[in-house]
Amino acid sequence: MVQRILAGAFALLLSGAVLGQAPQSSPAISYTRDIQPIFTEKCVACHACNDAACQLKLESPEGAVRGASKVPVYQGERSQAVPTTRLFYDAHSESEWRKKGFYSVLDNQGSQAALMARMLELGHKTPLTPNAKVPDGIVLGLNRNNMCPLPHEFDAYAGAHPKEGMPLAVTGLTDQEYDTMRRWLAAGAPVEYQPIQPSAAEARQIAEWEELLNRPGSTEALVGRWLYEHLFLAHIYFTGGEQGHFFQWVRSRTPSGQPADIIATRRPNDPPGTDFYYRLIPVQGVIVHKTHITYPMGPQKLKRVKQLFYAGDWHASALPGYGPRHRANPFETFEAIPAVARYQFMLD
Ligand code: HEC
Repeated sequence: MVQRILAGAFALLLSGAVLGQAPQSSPAISYTRDIQPIFTEKCVACHACNDAACQLKLESPEGAVRGASKVPVYQGERSQAVPTTRLFYDAHSESEWRKKGFYSVLDNQGSQAALMARMLELGHKTPLTPNAKVPDGIVLGLNRNNMCPLPHEFDAYAGAHPKEGMPLAVTGLTDQEYDTMRRWLAAGAPVEYQPIQPSAAEARQIAEWEELLNRPGSTEALVGRWLYEHLFLAHIYFTGGEQGHFFQWVRSRTPSGQPADIIATRRPNDPPGTDFYYRLIPVQGVIVHKTHITYPMGPQKLKRVKQLFYAGDWHASALPGYGPRHRANPFETFEAIPAVARYQFMLD
């Protein structure tokens, strides 16, 4: 939360100073060139991460197209888990997200403009004073009770929150940015998908690491599982890799060389339910601080890991399962791996 407020404050400072650079000469608006930079500068402070307002994530075209949901990801009073809705993980197309209760913020509804257009218009109509304190009536923070209006509920939202258009509680879009957004939305909000692909140098290292984690045999599979369950949160980057390229370990139904088919379990050590392979896939979309735990990999690290785990003479005679007991106690689950290897890896 502190981060959200700080980020909001930052956006406030920046929005006064930086002018949008929508190209005048070209009438066609490009999502990648013209729209994502506005989202990145003015929206992702709140519309990113796992707790994005209304689950509207604007770090990538996939998130913008997915749209919003009324179900908060985090809710302390909840006694039963709700289904996970991780972008790029739990569904892979607009229609799959619609089935999970997400609604479009980009589609014009008959004669009515898209939700995003109306939220931006509300913000533009009632601008806040630059470099002044946010008015008391605008509730921010954990106490804010988001309505996340559906298109037909927008008028009620605007009536109850006349000063809470988007971007919320900041100086807002420049006239030029606003015009670019308005024209893009009026044109039906077309997007281009340009997913990050590994470079040749990255692909070579990915193949080596996937080989290491997917070796057959119970000893090797136990090492693979240990490494995966320690690294699943990391954003991996490679020696000699591209600036801005990060990768993430997943469990996939498909082996190296094929497109990953993610097994989207809630936890990394939930039963996979099928044979699987550890795979490295690119992290898509704008990188935000909160989820960016970096971890370097390269030839040195590969050598080091092999030496730590495979230099000694040890064998796992059987593989632990994914039942509650083995998920709960890693010291038992991974007991067969020499403690010195595990310990030294953590120290490194
Ligand atoms: C300071 C945080 C913050 C910023 C910055 C921000 N938003 Fe929001 N946004 C919110 C909150 C909070 C809500 C939920 C409002 C409510 O329902 O009470 C919201 C709601 C929305 C909704 C409506 C979702 C729904 O379910 O109806 C849209 C669309 C939206 N924002 C777009 C944007 C865009 C586009 C930008 C950037 C130009 C932006 N927001 C910037 C916090 C923010």
